[in-house]
Amino acid sequence: MPLAHQVVGDGFPILLIHAFPLNRKMWKGQIGPLSQAGFQIVLPDLPGFGETVVNKNVSIPDMAEEIFGLIKFLKIEGCIVGGLSMGGYVSFALSKKHPRIFSGLLLCDTTFSADSTEKKEARFNLIEKIASEGPLPLARDMLPNLISDHTKENNPVLVNEIKKEILQTDPEGAIAALKAMANREDQTDLLGEISVPTGLIFGEADKVTNLETAKIMKNQIPFSELFIIEKAGHYSNLEQSEKFNAALLEFVKTGGF
Ligand code: MLT
Repeated sequence: MPLAHQVVGDGFPILLIHAFPLNRKMWKGQIGPLSQAGFQIVLPDLPGFGETVVNKNVSIPDMAEEIFGLIKFLKIEGCIVGGLSMGGYVSFALSKKHPRIFSGLLLCDTTFSADSTEKKEARFNLIEKIASEGPLPLARDMLPNLISDHTKENNPVLVNEIKKEILQTDPEGAIAALKAMANREDQTDLLGEISVPTGLIFGEADKVTNLETAKIMKNQIPFSELFIIEKAGHYSNLEQSEKFNAALLEFVKTGGF
């Protein structure tokens, strides 16, 4: 069974992989503008999120293999693959194993580095809290760090929407993904090997994966372009969807897709 997914529109495919602890619905603000611009949008739910069942032992490379399976299932030949944060970790793993499966890469608010010891510890603390409290600690402890102060002050409707979505996360799916992220490989060596046009889109106030990381990627990935989204935090496509869409469309236009 392929991953649960949604396909909208015709034209050159853009497959977008969601962040943690969200699901494919996080891309709803991208569907209209991208399909109107003549692209097909492919939105998977990673294992344990949205409508895809949990795999308690899933790894980031397993998630990448599931995306590869979906691309094959849909008989896609040539596409842009992109992801935000955890979706970016999966895109890196896919790029490492199947570099010829896509012709463009989009890395949003993500990093090539493995977790530091502190970050791993924080993930295992969070796992313990989720095991006893369910998804609540994800909204209570994680969300404030994910969005910008500007979003918190000016867009309470969006903040509530994200919170509601996070509170529906399957605790087992979240725990499996936290373990997978804690165990993921460092991808520094891959950066110089990426040979396709690569769009880097980062919120200027992203505190989870920051602009320093974005600039390293810009310097090391040969055909890359960096777009900084003003007033956005880590969830740049949700917080400033119009600016995000403009950046994405500029990337696909200059990349010749
Ligand atoms: C995400 O947005 O996917 C997460 O913040 C990733 C992470 O925790 O490393």
